[in-house]
Amino acid sequence: MAVDMKGYDVISIHDLSREEVEQILDTTHILKMKQKLAEIYHPLKGKTLGMIFQKSSTRTRVSFEVGMYQLGGYALFLSANDLQLNRGETIADTARNLSRYLDGIMIRTYSHQDVVDLAEYSSIPVINGLTDLLHPCQVLSDLFSIREKKQQLDGLKLTYIGDGNNMAHSLMFGGAKMGMHVVICSPSGFEPDPEITRLSRLDATKTGATITINDDPIDAVKNADVIYTDVWASMGQEEEHEERLKSFSDYQVNSSLLENAREDVMVMHCLPAHRGEEITDEVIDGPHSIVFDQAENRLHVQKAIMALVM
Ligand code: CP
Ligand code: NVA
Repeated sequence: MAVDMKGYDVISIHDLSREEVEQILDTTHILKMKQKLAEIYHPLKGKTLGMIFQKSSTRTRVSFEVGMYQLGGYALFLSANDLQLNRGETIADTARNLSRYLDGIMIRTYSHQDVVDLAEYSSIPVINGLTDLLHPCQVLSDLFSIREKKQQLDGLKLTYIGDGNNMAHSLMFGGAKMGMHVVICSPSGFEPDPEITRLSRLDATKTGATITINDDPIDAVKNADVIYTDVWASMGQEEEHEERLKSFSDYQVNSSLLENAREDVMVMHCLPAHRGEEITDEVIDGPHSIVFDQAENRLHVQKAIMALVM
């Protein structure tokens, strides 16, 4: 039976049940089909999404804005620099005010707690468009992409090579919820947050998933169905970039690493990629890569999320 998700905040995959994640993925499939058939579908006619951006974005901004348009609604871009938020208005007051005008808020910011607070004081759904801790819309979209290509999620092995960052954390939560075997392979000092590891392992006990932390890329990719990577220095860590190049030099996803994985391994990256750093041109442009299908699916998944919660 369908779960009524109207009014839900989407802040972390950990907060969703497996059924709710499946409902998002199933709804995505329907909306993607409608769009491919050029079928007009306007469930959000007359509704407005506010999009607060404190960090840059190509995919998230464009896919939410276009998605809202395709669903018959309107999307309002709100640069944090232009909001009174930047001049000291509290998150709580911002939330109370925006709730009087809008039907939903998507926010991309640094502090995860800001998104939690925004949701607490808003009477409308809040969608996390990336924080320093998590990137749930990306991973819901990635789960959809994997399921679309492999027809399953349960039992698949996904190896993430790189920084134990927001992407690693959301992949751990998403994989744990959906019964996958997630291996996070990071250099010493860059492992995922221990609390995220603990919570995802707790979720994993209910689905048969496993969450493994490993620091040896060659061992980590053995039998992997999916190899995933992300930038070594995330937004907000720009000044650590040079130092991180040294720490991560053995953690590049390149052709020789791929030789240790399954022949049909899929390579994924949330993008933007720093070509020649965490991934080579040869791999990202090669036959195993599905990175642009992933990027496209952001649109379809976020439309499903908005249609379900708004
Ligand atoms: N993957 C992703 O969120 O891309 P943007 O930073 O361009 O939005
Ligand atoms: N870890 C990256 C993801 C970008 C989509 C960052 O936070 O910058």
